[in-house]
Amino acid sequence: MSPFGRGKVILLGEHAVVYGVPALAAGLERGVRATARPAAEPALACAPWGTVDRVGDESDLARAFGALLAGHPDAPLPPLRVEADVGLPAGAGLGCSAALGVAVIRALDAAVGRAASDAEIAERAMAWERVFHGNPSGLDAAMAAHGGVASYVRGQPLERLDVRRPLRLVVGDSGEPSSTRAMVEGVAHQRERDAARFDRALEAIGTLVRNARLAIEAGDAHALGQLMDLNQHLLSAWMLSTTALEDMIGAARAAGAKGAKLTGKGGGGCMIALVETEEEGARVADAIRALGFTAFEAEAR
Ligand code: MEV
Repeated sequence: MSPFGRGKVILLGEHAVVYGVPALAAGLERGVRATARPAAEPALACAPWGTVDRVGDESDLARAFGALLAGHPDAPLPPLRVEADVGLPAGAGLGCSAALGVAVIRALDAAVGRAASDAEIAERAMAWERVFHGNPSGLDAAMAAHGGVASYVRGQPLERLDVRRPLRLVVGDSGEPSSTRAMVEGVAHQRERDAARFDRALEAIGTLVRNARLAIEAGDAHALGQLMDLNQHLLSAWMLSTTALEDMIGAARAAGAKGAKLTGKGGGGCMIALVETEEEGARVADAIRALGFTAFEAEAR
């Protein structure tokens, strides 16, 4: 199997995680695969993101690739051409950029015979993530490297959770891409406008996340679903939801989901719905598709 970076969904706590609140996330089976081979010049090819033929270029992709090469523990590396197969939609909130960064790092490491821990890879991927997102919490990079169901606090190692029952999720994609940088900046403006109100929302999200962790550890899908719904209210108050996301969330709940919310940065991108059985998952996915959106099912443990 070629080197892999994993996509993720955030179960609860997105955006608040940037300010130090824990977030809960689940790794997806989908992600990015990459390979590296000797070449005349360093290069990166990753359709539909683009191609880098000259590391000195000003594009974000060239700067991010350059940052990984310069920060490699064995730098300077011999010239390598990395080719990536991107199996996630970009800008959808599924951690595509972090998955790509992690896959590229693992491909470079494989080519030079370096073995690195998941934690080291997540740390090195931050140089890549900062180029695209400005002020990332590190959650996407950690999930892309580790996978599983985990709790993440900014600046701390990822903590894998003891999942009593695998989580069954339906992911609905609005098809409207959005920028993590812009959404994170939008939330920062809300904090500047009313810091006290913002802090109350952070505290409320922190409480939801703590309870959601207990629900996951107890295998209580009903409680987890309700907590996801409450998180969605707070995220909409930060202006992160859209009509398409609300339509999918409403359809999922009406079709029997235990809870539903946007996932990731919002402003477009994806939502997740929690279901308990395969049949429920199929009904919820069909309800989302009936609105004209795409949906897929995922299991996380
Ligand atoms: C993006 O997947 C998650 C955000 O919380 C930003 C971050 O954690 O860096 C919106």
